This record gives sequence, structure tokens and C-alpha cells, in this order.
Amino acid sequence: MTQAFSRIYGSGFVTGETLVPNSRMAMVCDTTDEWIRERSGIEQRYFINEGTSTSDLAVGAAKKALDDAKWKAEEVDYIVVATMTPDYYFPGVGSLVQAKLGLTNIPALDIRQQCSGFVYGLQMCDALLRAGQAKKILFIGAEIHSGFMPFSKHGWDVVMGRSDKPVTQEEKDWNSKFRHLLVLFGDAAGAMCIAPTDDPQRGILGFALHSDGKDVESLYVPSAGFKYRPYFSEDHIREGRFVPVMEGRQVFKMAVTKMPEAVHEALGKTGLGIDDVNLLIPHQANLRISEGVQKGLKLPDSRVFNNIMRYGNTTAATIPIAYDECKKAGRIKQGDLLAFCALGAGFHWGAALMRE
Ligand code: ACO
Repeated sequence: MTQAFSRIYGSGFVTGETLVPNSRMAMVCDTTDEWIRERSGIEQRYFINEGTSTSDLAVGAAKKALDDAKWKAEEVDYIVVATMTPDYYFPGVGSLVQAKLGLTNIPALDIRQQCSGFVYGLQMCDALLRAGQAKKILFIGAEIHSGFMPFSKHGWDVVMGRSDKPVTQEEKDWNSKFRHLLVLFGDAAGAMCIAPTDDPQRGILGFALHSDGKDVESLYVPSAGFKYRPYFSEDHIREGRFVPVMEGRQVFKMAVTKMPEAVHEALGKTGLGIDDVNLLIPHQANLRISEGVQKGLKLPDSRVFNNIMRYGNTTAATIPIAYDECKKAGRIKQGDLLAFCALGAGFHWGAALMRE
């Protein structure tokens, strides 16, 4: 069986400051709490208050993970941040996190594999440690999706609970064009401290990662790209091209097919089987997707963890948040075999295995 080289020594997470229940989303677009719960399992999400940035959330989560691992920030010698929603178009947030933590000189890398950012980033961390390029890595998944939302200033006041005055019908119609997407996302960050294992029985065991770019337009943001000159324009805003395009049903079908395949592949590579898995932590895109993956893998409810009800889809942050919740709730015990799996825009997908 594969030997682990590195393991997670600490974890932590933060969310955006404001809790937004489904009822608030239903005030700005044509949707209902019932529809959102039934089709996605989501009951609420958190959005940042204006002024908070992705790097701020990343630093908040990082500090919690460092405390949990009992590491001082100065001990970290490599930062890896997975995000598709950086503070600026460039640079990424890795160097911003480094500066906000008061660190200098150490490498800071950005991973941009969207909802698969965690599994890809985890593989990168494990590989850096195996190659001797780092000794103590701070790995963060952080996202602010509220910037994608097409709401007016007043629409935001309604969403954030600062006003109950209805939005105009014109605004509601505009927002409703994107309703299948708007209701799914939240803002949050999760972090982990990763280093070579002190126990050969514990740690990251293996991966199965894949990409396929041929259906990229099934899930992408059709503006702010260097395919256009200028790369962002008034037309893009007027046409709502800053909001992601998502063929929901196609993504759903891919997710429930590719994630179980990747889990089996990773298990096969490490000489393990599905019966060895104590807990599956799938990327939280939709509770129905997680249920489909669970069914595909024939796992009972007791061996799958979901928390999308409370946070919505937080892209690269979902798995680190779920891991931290499970750890703190005693749902994961030393020696448990954990399987993580994800699929996201690109398309990129995969699975990772770890012995706690
Ligand atoms: N409220 C009310 N009705 C809605 C809403 C809404 N928010 N959104 C869509 N509807 C309506 C549609 O207009 C449609 O109405 P019609 O039958 O009159 O045409 C009906 O509901 C059904 O629409 P579908 O899109 O077929 O609904 P579905 O059951 O597929 O659920 C959903 C949509 C939730 C988006 C689902 O397809 C899904 O979760 N897909 C995957 C999402 C995902 O994983 N995204 C990837 C992560 S993002 C990333 O990687 C960056």
C-alpha cells in the first residue's frame, strides 16, 4: 500500500460576515426558499460586507489553521492559495496573504482550478513536500462569489438585510435571468497546515486528477478575458457577461459520473477499496449532486459529510471547511480513511485520499 509522506496538522475556516437566508434571495429574484432547498439543499449562505476581500478571508482562515496546528506564521515556508475569485485580476492572492500575515520572501503560489482547487492544490502541497521544496505549507481555499451577483446598490441593501423596500420589477427581471446560479454560492475560506508526516500510518495517500477543456463554455465567465480587446468593457457589463454561465444539468450529470469514477481510481491506485473509506467529503456544489455521488459509490449516510445547507457552494473553500467541521465535531478519528472529491469549471475533477 502507498506510504503517506505528508499530513494535515491543523485547519480552520471563516465565512463572509453576513448570513443571507434564502428568503432574502427571493426578495431580489424570482425564486423561493422551497425551490432552493428542494433543488440544491441550500438554506443560507454568507456574503462578505463591502470592503472585505478574498485575501482577508484567506488570512482569517489561515490564522485559525495556524492556531490549530500550533504553528507560528513565521514557521511557514510556502503558501498555496486556491481561488477563482482573487482580489485583483492580477496578481493572485498568494502574495497578498503572505504580506497580510507579516511574512516576507517565502514563495506564494495561486491555484486556479475552480471547484477542484482543493484537490489540485492538495496534490501540489504533497508534491512540494515530497520534493523537499517546502517543510511547512499553509494551504488555503478562499472565494468571494458575491462579486458575480448582478444586484443594484439597493438590491444589495435588500439581500444584506439593510432594507425591506422591494426592488423594482425591472431589477427583479434582470436578476432572475441568472437565478439558477445566484442562489447557489456563498463567500468563505478554509485553510490547512500541511507538513511531512510524523507517523507513516497517517497522511495523504494518493490522487486521481483529470481535466477536459472541450466543454469549457458549459461553465465559465464569458467576460474579462484577453480574448477581448479591451479585456473588459461596458458591453460586458450591460450584457451581464460578468456573471458565470452554467449549463446546470450538464454540470450535474458530469459531477455525479466523474466524482465516483475518480474516487474508485484513487482507491485502486493505493490498493484500497470503497469499503475502506470511513468518510467521503465531496465538494459542496449541490446536495443533490452529493447524494448522486454517494449513490454511485454505494455509501451509507453515515459515511458522507455535507454542509452545503449552511454555506452554499464556496468553490475551493468547501472541502477545507467541511474537513474542519468534521474534525472539530469529532466526526473524524485518527486512523480514518478520508476520500475527498470535486468537479468544477474547466472542466477539472478528481479525488484525494488521506489517512487521518
Ligand atoms: N428559482 C426558481 N426556479 C428556478 C431557479 C430558481 N433559483 N433556477 C431555475 N429555475 C427554474 C428554471 O427556469 C426551470 O424552469 P422551467 O422548467 O419553467 O424552464 C426549472 O426551474 C428547472 O430548471 P433546471 O435548470 O432544469 O433545474 P435543475 O433541477 O437542474 O436545478 C441547478 C438547477 C440547481 C443549477 C442544478 O442543475 C445544479 O446544481 N447543477 C450543478 C451546479 C454545479 O455543480 N455547478 C458547478 C459549480 S460552479 C464552479 O465550478 C465554479
